[in-house]
Amino acid sequence: MSNVKGIDAEFIRTLKQKNDIIEVLRGYVALDRKGGNYWACCPFHHEKTPSFAVNEGDQFYHCFGCGVSGDVVRFVQEIENTDFIGAVRILAARAKMTVPEGDFDSEEAAKKRKKRDAVVKITRDAARFYLSNLYSGDERADKYLQYIASRGLSPTTVKKFGLGASLDYNSLPQYLLSQGYSREDLLDSGVVAVSEKSGRLYDAQGERLVFPIINAFDEVVGFSGRKLEKVKFGKYKNTSNTLLFDKSKTLYNINLLKKLKREQPIQEVIFVEGQMDAITLYQAGFKNVVATMGTALTKEHARLAKRYTDKILISYDGDFAGQKADVRSLEILKESGLDVRVVPIPEGKDPDEVAKESAEAYQKCLDAAMPVIDYRLHALERGYNLNRTEDKRRFVSEALKIVKEAESESVREELLKKLRDKTGITYHALERDLQNLKTDGGATEPVPIQEKLAEVASGTDKKQKALRFILAAKLFSAPYAKSLAVAELPLHNETHIVIAQYIAEQETKNERVRPSELFELLDENCAEFNAILDLNYGDKLSGEVAERFFADSVKTVKLEAIEEKIAACNAEYAKERDDAKRKEIAKTLGELIQKRNRIKKE
Ligand code: UTP
Ligand code: MN
Repeated sequence: MSNVKGIDAEFIRTLKQKNDIIEVLRGYVALDRKGGNYWACCPFHHEKTPSFAVNEGDQFYHCFGCGVSGDVVRFVQEIENTDFIGAVRILAARAKMTVPEGDFDSEEAAKKRKKRDAVVKITRDAARFYLSNLYSGDERADKYLQYIASRGLSPTTVKKFGLGASLDYNSLPQYLLSQGYSREDLLDSGVVAVSEKSGRLYDAQGERLVFPIINAFDEVVGFSGRKLEKVKFGKYKNTSNTLLFDKSKTLYNINLLKKLKREQPIQEVIFVEGQMDAITLYQAGFKNVVATMGTALTKEHARLAKRYTDKILISYDGDFAGQKADVRSLEILKESGLDVRVVPIPEGKDPDEVAKESAEAYQKCLDAAMPVIDYRLHALERGYNLNRTEDKRRFVSEALKIVKEAESESVREELLKKLRDKTGITYHALERDLQNLKTDGGATEPVPIQEKLAEVASGTDKKQKALRFILAAKLFSAPYAKSLAVAELPLHNETHIVIAQYIAEQETKNERVRPSELFELLDENCAEFNAILDLNYGDKLSGEVAERFFADSVKTVKLEAIEEKIAACNAEYAKERDDAKRKEIAKTLGELIQKRNRIKKE
């Protein structure tokens, strides 16, 4: 490693030596020494008890709550929201070191940085332009002002969210060009587009009410614009994907949520679909709200929200279930460690309309929030009239399919009791119907969650766990792992390969294995690496039990590798038509099987 992301590796090493992780982190979090490590409440997610550990010896941090980890450079990068180079600059200034010139910013990185700076300026100027339109006195602005008032937004709210208006298609590009921005940068920012016919630039939000989308660092990253007239499709139009904006990774109102967190603890975050919903709720006093700008909720959204809370309330439109989104997919958010509840909104209504009625009316909805599976039953019921025998039967049959997916027996029992109360059918009968449904076998498609559980119980997971343990033992120089050569391991996972290569390299050079050096080689927030680092805490790697587990793990991995070879051999044998070759394969197969049996006996 002579070069780390375009910087001299020796410089980085000295930089890290002069910036002790404990001292640097003390500037950001309160650290407590306990049992060989330092602990703090994680600055990257919401928590009340510390699960953020800092390892002084190896100079890295790791959070058991949200799984982030890194060295001192990564920490500064994350907490200051800057890139690698930016963090290096901060730390160099702190240690009074001079950053080497020239190849420091790789050409590509420097170009990217310049581009981003230009685009951020453009989006900011565009936001100001739209804003000034609204208050310009131009009569074309009247209808936007009237519309805003008709939606019940106060002038203070409108200013807080920076709403603006585009009055035509030409003024914005003209203005931005006059400010000296290049055509290329303007197009890259997404605020203008180019007409295929005339080649002229036009305002991408032309003649719309414009909502600037602002990130947690108060940068305008994009826009969402609403047509006031009735249109067949495209009522709202969002900025296309740019280097600043990606709808699947952006939450509307995250900027104000961040400010709110500084003022008070946030118990839960409300997720709504539309920016109008978010603004109205905010104005009604529900400031802990963000909008996903549609119903597509992603893991990235969950990751963002996790910095502020561990509980989210999905408050989508009353008709979102079934029509617009797969409610079941909300279960995915649980994987991010979030407590997810769904807020029932009356059918045909938006949170916006309920909150406009009264804050109390919306609070009532919030109070009725329920787990995802309960909500699925609730939403299903809407389609049936339970006073009609025929409807009731069909409802029960569909409902049982949902109950079947319950994650535990106790939840299943609770749901059956609810069904009993709704339908008047006895618990016993419902339970038996459910049993029959289960033995039907493959009548319904498997759910993602169940697939996941199956995966956890299967052999591949066992192998993965074994490999993680072996690599952790090697990384943290457990004495019992010394004689094992990583080159012998059958590795498929890319992260595992990077780690193993690093270990092998250090061993040939006879140099110490330093886990923190891997943060420079692996991608940010690499989940697999985090899982391996998890193993270095609470004595998991030391003692007799660990030693035995290591030996077991090596055996598991070796066996798995041989099983793979046997399977491949079998497949080859089945395909081969040539007798001589078949014999040869059979011989290899025999040897492999013997080898497997030997390992099994070990
Ligand atoms: P909705 O259609 O529910 O909007 O879409 P809304 O919040 O009820 O809008 P109003 O109250 O009529 O003004 C919810 C969100 O989905 C995205 C927008 O971000 C919108 O706020 N959306 C909707 C689009 O991106 N494009 C569309 O054509 C429609
Ligand atoms: Mn809506």
